[in-house]
Amino acid sequence: PETGCLSIIVLGASGDLAKKKTFPALFHLYRQGFIQSHDVHIFGYARTMISDNDLRDRIRGYLTPCKGFEQTHEKDVNEFLQLIKYVSGAYDTEEGFRLLDKAISEYELSKNSTEGSSRRLFYLALPPSVYPPVCKMIKSYCMNKSDLGGWTRIVVEKPFGKDLASAEELSTQIGELFDEPQIYRIDHYLGKELVQNLMVLRFANRLFLPLWNRDNISNIQIVFREDFGTDGRGGYFDQYGIIRDIIQNHLLQVLCLVAMEKPVSLKPEHVRDEKVKVLQSVLPIEDSEVVLGQYEGYTDDPTVPDNSNTPTFATMVLRIHNERWEGVPFIMKAGKALNSRKAEIRVQFKDVPGDIYKCKNQGRNEFVIRLQPSEAMYMKLTVKQPGLEMKTVQSELDLSYGQRYQGTIIPEAYERLILDTIRGDQQHFVRRDELKAAWEIFTPLLHRIDRGEMKPLPYKPGSRGPEAADKLAEQAGYVQTHGYIWIPPTL
Ligand code: BG6
Repeated sequence: PETGCLSIIVLGASGDLAKKKTFPALFHLYRQGFIQSHDVHIFGYARTMISDNDLRDRIRGYLTPCKGFEQTHEKDVNEFLQLIKYVSGAYDTEEGFRLLDKAISEYELSKNSTEGSSRRLFYLALPPSVYPPVCKMIKSYCMNKSDLGGWTRIVVEKPFGKDLASAEELSTQIGELFDEPQIYRIDHYLGKELVQNLMVLRFANRLFLPLWNRDNISNIQIVFREDFGTDGRGGYFDQYGIIRDIIQNHLLQVLCLVAMEKPVSLKPEHVRDEKVKVLQSVLPIEDSEVVLGQYEGYTDDPTVPDNSNTPTFATMVLRIHNERWEGVPFIMKAGKALNSRKAEIRVQFKDVPGDIYKCKNQGRNEFVIRLQPSEAMYMKLTVKQPGLEMKTVQSELDLSYGQRYQGTIIPEAYERLILDTIRGDQQHFVRRDELKAAWEIFTPLLHRIDRGEMKPLPYKPGSRGPEAADKLAEQAGYVQTHGYIWIPPTL
């Protein structure tokens, strides 16, 4: 691993993302020894004129204890907060950024710096509208000092634009200032334990190799459900909607890992080459294979216009035009204010040909990867009902993480991804051409919705969403198993 000074600069330090995700993730990395006080300094930057201590106080309450370190939590928090220095300034004028550079440089020089000691990680916990000016300021005033070596990296998060044209414009503006290896586009789903397991499952298990294709798989669902609404984020959400907020990024990334071909190696470029290829094979989305919904009461939020056409729910079928997947629908489903919270991938296999048990109605084999909560993988099987009679019943092979990996701490997505940015590993970050291909898939549909040509159906908060969505999945070929529910094992 590299040594020397590392500066992590959180821009937008007093905003929601920084407080809820970035600083807590940094704290956990610190507590676990991945970043250490002797070579790391953290700078918060924002417009508000506050002191170092004010910022520390604002963050403190969000730093949750690391499992196993509850006893020393308060002491750990105090030590961690001492690493943070605050600099205030605007996002588009040079004064603030000159001050920031001065603060970072002083720290780098104070450390008896050695070669490679000017490592600067800029985390833009900011709205994308200010990415271009901020990147320009960083490039002009805050780059790593070449006499000390090291690097400068930029971490950005969605929304990367609103459609293909705006995303490309943003990419071009940033791309004129930084090279692709310096840009880390976070999609936090790529940091989830079971998402990171997808490639291992597919490419390190002989069992799946012959099955993972159109000959055996009937349909695949990629599902995201939340049991709460937009909760105070209505203003932001209304401009984007569920497709831009969840499907175009999080669920599509999952689709890539489920559907892509085996990469040449695990090198980030090899992996991302395959993701781009599969995205480019996705056919245009048919309106008849889309169901939109909006939960009743969504527009009660004062920041949401009364006549909003924004979907808070969507189900749609994506079709991949290649040798492996032709004819296999990928049913993407995402919704807010539903009856449960979960994210899962459900691979449904075809019926057994020449069935002698006449168990067709009982259920198809399904391989389910539960991303959250209660991380698990289970394979739904038909087995003999134990007992004297020869009867079949649905059961499962179950790998539930809570049970199988007791005592193992599953890291938060952001922890893992921030560590990758420090280590310089871009495998779990979205490349520019990948982002473009993702927008190409959804932009025509999004424009039709934005123009009001497609309307969301109302649904009751706390329900399954519009009934038409279940019908669509059924039409696409999904067969629901009645009378079988997977129950996560208790410890
Ligand atoms: C964010 C979306 O990217 O992901 C939110 O903007 C959503 O609307 C969140 O709630 C879900 O993340 P997770 O990790 O809780 O599934």
